[in-house]
Amino acid sequence: MTTPAQDILVHQEQGVSTITFNRVDKKNSITTSMYTQLADALEAATNDAAVRVVVIQGDVAIFSAGNDIKDFLERPPLTRDAPVFRFLRVLATFPKPLLASVCGPAVGIGTTLLFHCDLVYAGDNAAFSMPFVNLGVCPEAGSSLLAPQMLGYHRAAEALLLGEPFMAEAALEVGLVNRVVPPTECNMLTQMQAKKLSSKSLVSLMETKRLLKKTNQAELLARIDEEADSFGRMLGEPAAKEAFTAFMEKRAPDFSQF
Ligand code: COA
Repeated sequence: MTTPAQDILVHQEQGVSTITFNRVDKKNSITTSMYTQLADALEAATNDAAVRVVVIQGDVAIFSAGNDIKDFLERPPLTRDAPVFRFLRVLATFPKPLLASVCGPAVGIGTTLLFHCDLVYAGDNAAFSMPFVNLGVCPEAGSSLLAPQMLGYHRAAEALLLGEPFMAEAALEVGLVNRVVPPTECNMLTQMQAKKLSSKSLVSLMETKRLLKKTNQAELLARIDEEADSFGRMLGEPAAKEAFTAFMEKRAPDFSQF
């Protein structure tokens, strides 16, 4: 079964629902309508008893270039009810096992969504980055809370303040990914792990995940909202406008005034 919307594909097999970013010509950057499709797919997976596990994957050469920057200019997510923030709340509260298979660049939300996954497998070409400051905005997806918890404060600060990419081996070292394999094997490995999980008791998997995530949950949802408020405000400010315009004009941004 494949959904008619082509930028996001959803395929269901043996209890595993696989969501694939399918906008390779734009480096799998995510538009407003794709956020809605992603949130819908996760909600459908929550409510469908036949779905026991969800996998998110991209292409062998690109996971996702993050938010579509043109879309940021045309349809900025200014309030908490914007599709991107709905997706993030659905993602952060998704109750079944969630796996990701990451090859190539994972930029912005392409990296921060991984903080919400239970298992992450990476191709050795994976490059993770959170360049929010370079775009004149601030962290999202609860990453200002989860990055320091997962990476340690200094590594999180380096990744979020400098916004430079770190590679699969570094992500493995800090525990952001479970295993690094050749890119052509990554989706297969992730599917294999997903199928293992789907043969287990869903009740037990869900209760284990709930308990694992419980400590952080209320604070995480509050942080996602707080970040959304800041992000929405900053999108309208001159630094972000300069960064997005520079990207569209394929030049370096000039932040000297901001
Ligand atoms: N939003 C909109 N379009 C994007 C995009 C994004 N986030 N990322 C890439 N694209 C588009 C490019 O504009 C280009 O379109 P064109 O062919 O019409 O000119 C196309 O995708 C290919 O991108 P390109 O930059 O040439 O590919 P690359 O292989 O050299 O680099 C990336 C890949 C992902 C490293 C690079 O595209 C990138 O850094 N993208 C921006 C990431 C970003 O800042 N995201 C926002 C995070 S909040």
